[in-house]
Amino acid sequence: MLFSRSTGVLITLTWSLGAAIAQQSNLPDLAPGIFSAQSSAIIDAPLQTVWDVLLDFPSYPEWNPFSRSQVVTNALWIPLEDQTPHENLRLIIQAQIPPLPTPVDENTSPNLLHAQISFENITTIDHALHRAAWRAIMLPEVLLDSERWQALSTLPDGKTFYESKEVFRGPVGYVVDILFAEGLQEGFDAQATALKNRAESL
Ligand SMILES: *[C@@H]1O[C@H](CO)[C@@H](O)[C@H](O)[C@H]1NC(C)=O
Repeated sequence: MLFSRSTGVLITLTWSLGAAIAQQSNLPDLAPGIFSAQSSAIIDAPLQTVWDVLLDFPSYPEWNPFSRSQVVTNALWIPLEDQTPHENLRLIIQAQIPPLPTPVDENTSPNLLHAQISFENITTIDHALHRAAWRAIMLPEVLLDSERWQALSTLPDGKTFYESKEVFRGPVGYVVDILFAEGLQEGFDAQATALKNRAESL
């Protein structure tokens, strides 16, 4: 239902796949909102390798067609020398919505018409559960409440299950829905595929 507006067989497939192995989900329970974007991938690489790729923000420009850059900053939005993400540090995200055509590398030019910048707070970096989350804090939470979750788990065959989900709540969520829902869903799918390709090539 949430994805009624999203197009393509891929999304349906991802969705059914997610449902089929729902008992394997390592995402926390997220209350529904106005809309959500969600994607997953089965990655033929060790969990630790995928986790390292996911948290290595300085390398995002080399592979990520959706989140082109994520810079860890202090509370004053000043970039930090050490880009290791920790809870309660801030994140300046430059996203392409919809994502850039793949593959991308660090020299790929942005599409300025589709460039979005977002100011976020890192809310979870859980190295034991392999969950990470950050929340948009440009607007008060009563207006727009959106937190992007990503989680990893190991499947019975030893492969790594990557999941990503963001639920949008609050009145501004309706605007985001109209303007960006489809592009965000494409971005989540593109990042899942690119993460898989990156981790499997290491
Ligand atoms: C950022 O997230 C941390 C961890 O959840 C929380 O303790 C802190 O209050 C948040 N800061 C802001 C400015 O939202």
